[in-house]
Amino acid sequence: MSAPARKRLLSGMQPTGTGALHLGNLEGALRNWIRLQNDYEMYCCIVDWHALTTRFHEARAIAPASRQVAADYIASGLDPERCAIFLQSHVKEHAELHLLLSMITPLGWLERVPTFKEKRELMEARGEGDETVSYGLLGYPCLQAADILVYRAHLVPVGRDQAAHLEITREIARRFNRLYGEVFPVPEALIDEQTAIVPGVDGRKMSKSYDNAIYLCDPPDVVAEKVRNAFTTPTKIRKTDPGVPENCVVCQLRRIYDPEGYRISWEEDRAGARGCLQNKKELIDILNAFLDPIRRRREELLADPAELDRILLHGAERARAAAAETMQQVRAAMGF
Ligand code: TRP
Repeated sequence: MSAPARKRLLSGMQPTGTGALHLGNLEGALRNWIRLQNDYEMYCCIVDWHALTTRFHEARAIAPASRQVAADYIASGLDPERCAIFLQSHVKEHAELHLLLSMITPLGWLERVPTFKEKRELMEARGEGDETVSYGLLGYPCLQAADILVYRAHLVPVGRDQAAHLEITREIARRFNRLYGEVFPVPEALIDEQTAIVPGVDGRKMSKSYDNAIYLCDPPDVVAEKVRNAFTTPTKIRKTDPGVPENCVVCQLRRIYDPEGYRISWEEDRAGARGCLQNKKELIDILNAFLDPIRRRREELLADPAELDRILLHGAERARAAAAETMQQVRAAMGF
C-alpha cells in the first residue's frame, strides 16, 4: 500500500477592483494558506469567472486584476511549486461541473443565500434595476460548489462570511452522491479562529469597499500618508493623555506587525508617556520594512509577464489533471 495521499484543500479568491490585495486579505486568508501549503495538496484558485457576476460590464478589467492577485499571492509566500496557483477560467472542467450541478440545485437554496439577497438589494438601491441581477449572480454558490467539488477537496479554508456558501456546497455534494453514487467527499470549512482582524485606517474592518485599506503594493510614501491620517484614541489629544491601544488603529496594526516590541509601546501609550505622532512614525517604519520584500517580489513578477504566465499555466495544468479525473467519475456516475 502506498502512503495515504495528503488531504486536498481548495481555496478561492475573487479578483475585485484592480486585484491588488491589502493587509486584511493577507492576515484574513493568505497567511493561513501559506501555513497550510506545507501539509496539504493545495489548490489556490483565482475565481475570475465569479468576478463576472458583478463586473460583466467591465470584463476586460478582470484579467489584469487576476494577475495582480497572483503576484500578491506569490510575493507574500505562496509557493507555486507546492500549491497550484491558477485561474478558474483556465480549467474548463469548472464550467462543465457547474452546469451539471446547476441541474440538481434547487432554486430555493440559492434564493435564500444572504450574500445574494444583499447584492440584489445593493444593486436595486443603486437603481440598476432587475436587469443587472443575472442568472449567473444567483448561481454564484453553485459555481463555487463546482470549484470545490471538481477537486474532490476535503477542506476549504474560508472566512466566516462564507459559511452559507460552504453549506450549499455540502448540500449539493450530498445530493449528487445520493442521486448518482458516492463521488464527492462532503467538504469541511476550515475556519481559522486565530486570524487577526485587521482594522482599516478609519477603524472599521479593512476592506476595499470602505476605501480604508493599506495595500501590499502601496509605495512607502503612500503607506506613510495613510498611517499619518489613521484614527487613534479619540480622547488622546495631547501626548500626556492616556491612550486606549485597543481602540487605536495604529496600536492594533503595531501589534500585528511588531508582535514582540508592541508591548512597551502600548504601556507607554496607556501611561501617556508617548504620543500618537511617535506611534505613527514607528508604525510607518515597521510596515515599510515588512512590505519592502513583498513589494520588490511582486514588481519582479509583474515586470516579467512571461514568467507569471508560465506559473499560472503550470498551476492550471496541475489543477486540470485533478479536475479531469473527477469529471471522468462524474460522467460515469451519471451515465454520460
Ligand atoms: N465566494 C468566495 C469569496 O467571496 C470566493 C470563492 C469562489 C471561493 N469559489 C471558491 C472560496 C471556492 C473558496 C472556495 O471569498
